[in-house]
Amino acid sequence: MAFIPFAAVRREPASLLFSLMLFVLGLLIQSLAVADSLRVEDAMKERVRACTACHGKEGVATNQGYFPRIAGKPAVYLYNQLRHFREGRRQNPAMRHLLAHMSDAYLMDIAQYFSALELPYPPPEPTTVTLRLLARGEQLVRQGDKQRDIPACTACHGAAMTGRLPATPGLLGLPRDYVVAQIGAWRTGSRHAEAPDCMAQVARRLSNGDIHAVSQWLAAQPVPSVGHPAAPGRQNTGIACKGDAH
Ligand code: HEC
Ligand code: HEC
Repeated sequence: MAFIPFAAVRREPASLLFSLMLFVLGLLIQSLAVADSLRVEDAMKERVRACTACHGKEGVATNQGYFPRIAGKPAVYLYNQLRHFREGRRQNPAMRHLLAHMSDAYLMDIAQYFSALELPYPPPEPTTVTLRLLARGEQLVRQGDKQRDIPACTACHGAAMTGRLPATPGLLGLPRDYVVAQIGAWRTGSRHAEAPDCMAQVARRLSNGDIHAVSQWLAAQPVPSVGHPAAPGRQNTGIACKGDAH
């Protein structure tokens, strides 16, 4: 300290003032940015208010009943579904009506909003079926059934069944009735994805007994942590899905 030249010490108050000004300016810019992002967030909350009536606050529908949770699912998956409803590849009159006049860009904003929400999952649904049936469900999900050309669900939906980026949803934390209904909808042709629609092929290979076993086992599983989707790049199942080419 004692060796610092006098001139340097004398300059200090001015440079201190300058640093302080920079600091205050920084704070100001930061708070403006925060206010701006809060405004954007508020506008989005307003935009999705209609959705939360059915999908629950912040898109966390419970695993009871029929409304699927939308929080935390891959953004491209959600975006695809919103377009499917709007364009009639999936059927739900309320959703179709709500989405009818929304642009693709608007739907992507909504999809990204819900996808970014990290919220805990409810505990799994209690099950009353036999252990044998549950074991069959687990076998189909993890290994499939080679003799009948049924691929493992985990090949596409991820080993942890929490989905895969960019556009495959998780299979855990969904209401059991919802899973049964969706596979049924693919079999009867009331739910479609854009071609090649791999789930339609998988669904057609499943018997009613398989669907029962799979949905019971899936609904009885807890969701690990917040259930992040796995990285892109899945196992080869011999069945192509739209989006594989990315
Ligand atoms: C009147 C109730 C209702 C409202 C309002 C509603 N939804 Fe839905 N939503 C449903 C139902 C029921 C399903 C399941 C439909 C089916 O069987 O395919 C669904 C399915 C979805 C799915 C597909 C989820 C998945 O895992 O595939 C998304 C995404 C979705 N809704 C987003 C929205 C958004 C965003 C809004 C607001 C703009 C909204 N919903 C408003 C009832 C509603
Ligand atoms: C070849 C890859 C592949 C395999 C194998 C596969 N899935 Fe899928 N699954 C998908 C894709 C991709 C989607 C999203 C389709 C869309 O965009 O609508 C999907 C969607 C679903 C959905 C809809 C989820 C929701 O939130 O609405 C269910 C349920 C489902 N799969 C169950 C299964 C089950 C059960 C198995 C095993 C028997 C299975 N899948 C095997 C690729 C696959």
